[in-house]
Amino acid sequence: MSEYKELLKGLDKRNLPRHIAIIMDGNGRWAKKRDLNRVKGHEQGSKVVKRIVETAARLGVRVLSLYAFSKENWNRPHEEVDALMHLLHKYLLSESDNLIKNGIRIVVIGDLSSLAPPLRALISDVCLRSRSNTGMTVVIALSYGGRYEIVEAIKAVVKDVQGRKLDADTITEETFGRYLFTKDIPDPDLLIRTSGEKRISNFMLWQIAYTELYITKTLWPDFTKEEFLSSIIDFQKRQRRFGMTDEQIASKKRQAGARGA
Ligand code: IPE
Ligand code: IPE
Ligand code: MG
Repeated sequence: MSEYKELLKGLDKRNLPRHIAIIMDGNGRWAKKRDLNRVKGHEQGSKVVKRIVETAARLGVRVLSLYAFSKENWNRPHEEVDALMHLLHKYLLSESDNLIKNGIRIVVIGDLSSLAPPLRALISDVCLRSRSNTGMTVVIALSYGGRYEIVEAIKAVVKDVQGRKLDADTITEETFGRYLFTKDIPDPDLLIRTSGEKRISNFMLWQIAYTELYITKTLWPDFTKEEFLSSIIDFQKRQRRFGMTDEQIASKKRQAGARGA
């Protein structure tokens, strides 16, 4: 039996993370280890994206968010930025029809105004065509920054308060969440970061308040569907307490069990 099938036996299908977010890091180091140009690492990384999207959809994950390019990544050398933009364009061109055909909804979040017009046009076409799909949602964070997203949300909130569409005194965390790029998307349950860096790098700062973290030394181009599955199984072994005590969580679970939920 394949390693994947063997691992699958340990997966609890009823307790899948609804939303998995991934910081796909380590392409440059993967290339350097092989004496290759960094761009080769990004090329290899984009092949892995394809595999992980397929695996997540097959498993029944509802939302998969991929950090593809941060606002800070614009500060990299021009040639690398150009190559990354080219790869993203190529990925969307070659994969979108297949993804859409398979019921996947594609959402792109970030400062899209900074992208080249042809890429922007492709993104709006792909998002529009996949808008009513009901399968897995793939969120691509592109020219994205968590702080940027929060500031944009604040600007929109202020505008609505000034336009008397919103009463400032009634704003709750939920209200604020509706002003973020991820307005109709549940918060990530699991955040995977490859390449061993123990940081968030400005990704979904608001949304990850109670997200479980899985940090692996594996470089993104080496990341496999087996490790993806292992990260979910690891997640399922954890107790999410949301500030409560161990005993409270256990009793909630017993009550839910008694109700047959
Ligand atoms: C992640 O790999 C891809 C992007 C940030 C776009 P890196 O290019 O950051 O790889 P390392 O961290 O240099 O190894
Ligand atoms: C985070 O990786 C951004 C993406 C994966 C797109 P970076 O490589 O840019 O993060 P830092 O600079 O090491 O924090
Ligand atoms: Mg990096």
